[in-house]
Amino acid sequence: MGPQQDDIQSFVVELRKVVHEVADEAELLVQVGPIVQRMVQKRRWLTADMYEADPKLGYGTTLLHVEPDQSLFVVVDSWLPGRGVPPHDHDTWAVVVGVDGTEHNLFWQRLDDAQRPGYAELQLMGEQCVSVGEALLLPGGSIHSLINETEHTSLSFHVYGRHLNFTERRQFDPDNNLERPFKIAPR
Ligand SMILES: [Fe+2]
Repeated sequence: MGPQQDDIQSFVVELRKVVHEVADEAELLVQVGPIVQRMVQKRRWLTADMYEADPKLGYGTTLLHVEPDQSLFVVVDSWLPGRGVPPHDHDTWAVVVGVDGTEHNLFWQRLDDAQRPGYAELQLMGEQCVSVGEALLLPGGSIHSLINETEHTSLSFHVYGRHLNFTERRQFDPDNNLERPFKIAPR
């Protein structure tokens, strides 16, 4: 096993320990944040191909780890200049740490009761720019969107409580009050 795989393996062992010991989601996020920040600082896991992105989608995603039961989903995402993702939730907790560049995150609040299929009313409620080494802690219910407003491809390190294609996460169109399922295909 090379140094890259060693680092990923020990990182996952550390994450597993916290996930098994900490039941409270808010406390879990507080403990996972610094673990991810330390991993990002090491940089040995970082390879040039992680900057590749699909011009059609505006982003690229590289899978570093997922547990056999689909828990602990670890990916590195790249965003092309000027590209982003519309408001979405994850249906699980998430920790994002900046690796290269700055990603501008907007946070949204859902106003309707989620009883009408395909319908959602969202209101903008805050923002956070995530730069290199900074952590974004997202509890399961949170809705965010992001955009890379810089002139260079951005890179960020993401840890989720579950593989995102195995959650019931949704993507939203706040201008037209629409919601729909949101799946991805990591390399
Ligand atoms: Fe997200």
